[in-house]
Amino acid sequence: MSIEIQPVSLSDVSDMVAVGALAFAASSLEKLTFPVQDLTAQQLEEYTAWRRDRAAKRTLKPGSYWYKAVNAETGELAGYTGILQPEVPQISLPDKAEFPSNANVEAILELKDELEAKKTQNLGDRSDVWCRHTIDGSQSHYQRRGVAKLLLDKTLAHADAAGQDVYLESTQSGLKLYQAAGFVVLDTLVHCRSSMIIS
Ligand SMILES: CC(C)(COP(=O)(O)OP(=O)(O)OC[C@H]1O[C@@H](n2cnc3c(N)ncnc32)[C@H](O)[C@@H]1OP(=O)(O)O)[C@@H](O)C(=O)NCCC(=O)NCCS
Repeated sequence: MSIEIQPVSLSDVSDMVAVGALAFAASSLEKLTFPVQDLTAQQLEEYTAWRRDRAAKRTLKPGSYWYKAVNAETGELAGYTGILQPEVPQISLPDKAEFPSNANVEAILELKDELEAKKTQNLGDRSDVWCRHTIDGSQSHYQRRGVAKLLLDKTLAHADAAGQDVYLESTQSGLKLYQAAGFVVLDTLVHCRSSMIIS
């Protein structure tokens, strides 16, 4: 099987959301913030549409670079990820009323505040650091084939070309990948039995 890394376009958004949902289905943070187990079909569609809208906004954001890994034989999306150039904030969270019905808004806002506080503690007022979106979603049948490493290298090339550092927040399962690429752990956030590794 050969994998190609290509820039993401808006037509990829549905597949990206589907791959992300599969990749993070077992994540306890995902289960806390956006539980899906008791949703009706209509609620699930509403939630998925909300995810697609967010993914489209992220993809279009100037100063962000998104890549997908594609199975060259079948065209199937194997994974995707992205990176933001310095001083480009992530897309902001919506007002409370604009979250989908399954969102645990309190937990989402608490996690966001904790992550922002850690980022300020660790980076201070540095304005020369790229922020990596730690999506790195791979469909399970594509895992352990080097897909995430190819995606990681593609995004890190932007920061390398600028001679600048990269900051990311990783799940526990992404840690080895990032450490192997040279990231060091600056901090750990333990949230609801789930740790975020910050490098
Ligand atoms: C974490 C995650 C992104 C890794 O993706 P992946 O595509 O499997 O990653 P890679 O294949 O590049 O590397 C994973 C392992 O496979 C190994 N590997 C790579 N190519 C291989 C091959 N051809 N044969 C066997 N092993 C291989 C790598 O050396 C690495 O080994 P290690 O765990 O001992 O370090 C993926 O498991 C995932 O999506 N997890 C759920 C979502 C998540 O938590 N994402 C991270 C967000 S921060």
